[in-house]
Amino acid sequence: MSSKIVTVGSCMIDFTCFSPRLPKSGETIIGNRYEIKYGGKGANQCIAASKLGAATAIIASLGSDIYGQEYLKIFKEENIDAYIQIQPNQHSGIAHITVAENGENSIVILLGSNALMTINHMDSSTNVIENAAVLLCQFEIPLEITLHALKIFKGRGLSIVNGAPATKDVHPDLWKLCDIFCVNETEMEVITGVQLQGSSSMQQAIVKLLDKGCNTVIVTLGEQGAVYASQEDRTIKKVGTTRVQPVDTTGAGDAFLGAFAYFKAYHPTLSMGECVRRACVVATESVLKFGTHASFPKRSSLSPDLFA
Ligand code: RIB
Ligand code: NA
Repeated sequence: MSSKIVTVGSCMIDFTCFSPRLPKSGETIIGNRYEIKYGGKGANQCIAASKLGAATAIIASLGSDIYGQEYLKIFKEENIDAYIQIQPNQHSGIAHITVAENGENSIVILLGSNALMTINHMDSSTNVIENAAVLLCQFEIPLEITLHALKIFKGRGLSIVNGAPATKDVHPDLWKLCDIFCVNETEMEVITGVQLQGSSSMQQAIVKLLDKGCNTVIVTLGEQGAVYASQEDRTIKKVGTTRVQPVDTTGAGDAFLGAFAYFKAYHPTLSMGECVRRACVVATESVLKFGTHASFPKRSSLSPDLFA
């Protein structure tokens, strides 16, 4: 069976310090504990979708270290078809994460093997990409690789691009190649140059991306839910979510994107607003637990209403 959701994206090894709060610039603070776990926005989103029951595949690159081998085992355990190139002279991608007691995080990543993904790797995965219902991409691998995958996929199914981490210089081709572009508020500010204060600035920022040729834009707002707009209806629509006490927001965006891809692939008749609402429910679940993969809810732990 072909995979309904295909991710072309990153794998990272997450080195996380849990700390009372995030340090200020130049400051050293004493943390509480330390963990090494598996992350990366590409892999996280793929796993989030898989845990909801999606048939998934990932096309990615790992380093020639023990972490790379361990990650292959995780893909097996999670039932993900993994099309992985191991880079002989490079380490796996690394994320240095700080998580504060209020659940906030800050992250520095080193791309490592993710930076060495090749056009050839995409070409040899053409079959997998072409047969996807949803193609899911992020900004943690070279943009030219993402663009190439999107070109292979063009005219097939639904492409979703998560513009994270954000960059000011998005290649202009991207906007017409992706059906849905999704970022959080900070990323939206970097990408559009619009300072987000209130709904009129959000409307303005979203229109900026629609004008560039993007079909639908979603901006996630953490505990406030998300807003979206599209070419057919450019007026922003807001979707709320329930308020919770978060312990770790790392990967909440990935939970949202994996879930959103799931609802688009498996419930294609649901409205945009309903897909966003259900994805927010999954993301909200994820902030109640530590880590990324371990915090993504399994289908069996969620209300059956979500899958109706
Ligand atoms: O989105 C969360 C992820 O961002 C972490 O798992 C880390 O690897 C970084 O890529
Ligand atoms: Na979490």
